[in-house]
Amino acid sequence: NVDQTRDKLRITITAGPTREPLDPVRYLSNHSSGKMGFALAEAAVQQGADVTLISGPVHLPTPEGVTRLDVDTAEQMLDAVLKALPSTHMLIGCAAVADYRAATVAEHKIKKQSQNGDELTLHLVKNPDIIATAAARGQAKFVVGFAAETQDVEAYAEDKLIRKKLNAIVANDVSDPTIGFGSDENRVTLLSRRGEHIIRQPLPQASKAALSDTLIQQLISLYDQHHSS
Ligand code: C5P
Repeated sequence: NVDQTRDKLRITITAGPTREPLDPVRYLSNHSSGKMGFALAEAAVQQGADVTLISGPVHLPTPEGVTRLDVDTAEQMLDAVLKALPSTHMLIGCAAVADYRAATVAEHKIKKQSQNGDELTLHLVKNPDIIATAAARGQAKFVVGFAAETQDVEAYAEDKLIRKKLNAIVANDVSDPTIGFGSDENRVTLLSRRGEHIIRQPLPQASKAALSDTLIQQLISLYDQHHSS
């Protein structure tokens, strides 16, 4: 549980997909359910933290005691995270942020084209990386990412841990349909940095609720170690 001798730990969590509009009626998005981020928020409140949950469009009730901010796009999510950052100790990026958005959002519904045969070309631009931007600001003292991968899970996760300058990353194999995206169970490995070394902690498969309890406990203990060293 949270060490009572220090200030209440303030944790900000991003969750769910982002939704990037193409025109007034269409968008690009993904199948993220938001379940993992919401489960983490609930676990963090139960362990005594002050929790802000910044969520993309999902169909989930707000866990009791959690402050929830709803956003649609990656840019809105980044704004909300940057506003929360000065009062955040730990940022956990659990959202499945769309990598690209439309270069321009059409003012009116995009019509079926009469030229170019059956093809339509959309011009997309890269979205900002929310947790990498946050980590680069150095305001949140501890930044945690998630890496959902289908192959070489730990190698890709390690690469993201270093490239995005995170303190820890949760590696998640989403090639197995019984865990990950949309399912109620998950199995992850927690990778964290200790000086030059990377520590790997495989956690047993469990419901997202039980796994969130373990993850939040581990992350709070890593946070405490990080600040006592
Ligand atoms: O690079 P990839 O999308 O796999 O990285 C996943 C991690 O980065 C997750 O923690 C996710 O929330 C975060 N992320 C982000 N902003 C993006 C893309 C990913 O915060 N634009």
